[in-house]
Amino acid sequence: MDSFVVAIDGPAGSGKSSISSIIANKLGFTHIDTGAMYRAVTLEALRLNIDLNDESNYKFVDNIKIINKLGKTYLNGKDVSKEIREKEVTNNVSTVSKFKTVREKMVDFQRASAKGLVLMDGRDIGTVVLPFADLKIFLTASAECRAKRRCLQNKEMGIEADYDVILEEIKARDYKDSHRQISPLKKADDAILLDTSDMTIDEVVNKIIYLINEKMRG
Ligand code: DC
Repeated sequence: MDSFVVAIDGPAGSGKSSISSIIANKLGFTHIDTGAMYRAVTLEALRLNIDLNDESNYKFVDNIKIINKLGKTYLNGKDVSKEIREKEVTNNVSTVSKFKTVREKMVDFQRASAKGLVLMDGRDIGTVVLPFADLKIFLTASAECRAKRRCLQNKEMGIEADYDVILEEIKARDYKDSHRQISPLKKADDAILLDTSDMTIDEVVNKIIYLINEKMRG
């Protein structure tokens, strides 16, 4: 099969990106991390020192070049994989990603990238970006469990990680991401719900690979 598209959505820290990356490596799919794209736009907005709450300041997205490839994110040719995980970006990305100007540009770009064997993860992939995806998964886990995972992930990347602070940030981001006007975080009606609170990474990976193989066989 030369074309198969998987949409993986879920809240902050649900493991979408790590799990998608492992599965993509195992199955030879291209992994597209759309959260990393919104983070790159946020990083650029912070660097430009614009008023983040004013949508008219986001015209720069027309000239920005974001590449998300092999687990790395490049902003205008520079590797920003670490910077986009920093606290300032994390705490502002929900504000930036609520604007139509930003979302339209990112969605166009994401749709154009969904060619061949692709696993795309985000918040609105199954509902808005790729409503005709061959398989849709909605990954979730309790906020406490997600905060614990984010803490570990940050520590591994050498980024500051205080559990209580991260838990509050995750709850705040959950609220903003699911209550915004445009493309809020929502399970698509035809997505398969997977609560990973009590699952290991291997279990989640194996379950999704099983679902992909089953769907591919028809
Ligand atoms: O998956 P993440 O935590 O890296 O995503 C960062 C933010 O980007 C998230 O809080 C909301 C936004 N986002 C979005 O609005 N739509 C997507 N498809 C992916 C992420």
